[in-house]
Amino acid sequence: MDFPLETVRRKFPALDLTDKGRRRIYLDNPAGTQVPQAVADAVARCLLTTNANLGGYFETTVAAQKVVDDAHAAMADFLGAASAEEIIIGANMTTLTYHMSRTLGRRFKPGDEIIVTRMDHEGNVSPWLQLAEDLDLVVRFLPFDETSWQVEETALSALLTDKTKLVALNYASNLTGSINRVKALTALAKQAGALVYVDAVQFAPHGLIDVQDLGCDFLVCSAYKFFGPHMGILWGRRDVIDALKPYKCRCSSNGLPERFELGTPQIELMAGLTAAVDYFADLGAAAGESGSRRRKIAKAFEVSIAHENPLALRLIEGLSDIEGLTIRGITDPKRVSERVPTVSFTVDGIVPETIVRQLNAENIFLWSGHNYAWEIVHQLGIPAEQGVVRIGIAHYNSAAEIDETLESVHRVVAMLRQQRG
Ligand SMILES: Cc1ncc(COP(=O)(O)O)c(C=O)c1O
Repeated sequence: MDFPLETVRRKFPALDLTDKGRRRIYLDNPAGTQVPQAVADAVARCLLTTNANLGGYFETTVAAQKVVDDAHAAMADFLGAASAEEIIIGANMTTLTYHMSRTLGRRFKPGDEIIVTRMDHEGNVSPWLQLAEDLDLVVRFLPFDETSWQVEETALSALLTDKTKLVALNYASNLTGSINRVKALTALAKQAGALVYVDAVQFAPHGLIDVQDLGCDFLVCSAYKFFGPHMGILWGRRDVIDALKPYKCRCSSNGLPERFELGTPQIELMAGLTAAVDYFADLGAAAGESGSRRRKIAKAFEVSIAHENPLALRLIEGLSDIEGLTIRGITDPKRVSERVPTVSFTVDGIVPETIVRQLNAENIFLWSGHNYAWEIVHQLGIPAEQGVVRIGIAHYNSAAEIDETLESVHRVVAMLRQQRG
């Protein structure tokens, strides 16, 4: 079945907005996606009809508890978790990772080793570096291969020792877009006895995650990157998290996952989270899947990928004939399934921000900078204060939007070149 682009677009009111008569093109998706009406409605409905704290016996508190339970169940389906008890919901990926890193730190001792990558967003680097500083852990940096744009198994093997306690790695990069072979990397780390913490923030909008198949111990993502509200979700393998003692109030629940969810939850956003997961399920159902919610989500990703990958290739091809432009990521069409549709580039002699500002002025939304992919820009020798131009596709983008953006990039680069003389 073809991707139902027009039906999908109609679900996102923000796509129809204009500014001073100008259409908007959203290509800032790796930094955050727009939401379907159903997500906004679910948040509003929760606030307007079931707004209460948890733990009581009256109508609204019982309803609020159901909102919370539903969100955990929805994310268990989204991630392929064994149970909703493995789903920890919090403010965002970064906060969840800082919290979990401190909890894990209670089991680490001076001299223990941890591995972080040169491909990760800082949200999966800084918490571990600072933990290492506090506890005198040894940090090993795992580089990515600048030809494959991925972390190679051989590179990981070279760093693992019997002292390695944790490997923190990403599923897909927010700058290069490349997808790591997380299952193979995890298997190596597990053989060495290390825990594996996976940042799937950028993969989650573009592919089906199966935490049980990956074999990792933790996996974290952010709902606002996959058409949901601003919040983060951390999956933890039950036997691992059950043995952990998080920092928490003495009198709060010791159950799972409540033990890891501090204070009053973002209940209304959880309502939106369930709606975001159901949005994927509805897309899968429309594509012909009538099985479980998980199966519908899987189908949704199947049709979504079939739409996104050609758009990514169109973008890459259209950029490739600009002289002096270097795409920082996989460009080989045969390897399109090894990347998400986030394409970053630099142009010789032109500061990325100047290109981005011109495009932003044409109401094409995208970002420049290092985008917290601090290690990547350093490994590539790109000035961190400049970074790259990043164009990030979501499945609601159209071929016409990509073509219009390409036309603008060509025109703007030519103009900036001319200005330089
Ligand atoms: C790969 C990756 N990891 C982590 C984060 C941080 O996510 P959050 O804003 O939910 O803390 C981002 C945000 O852009 C990201 O792209």
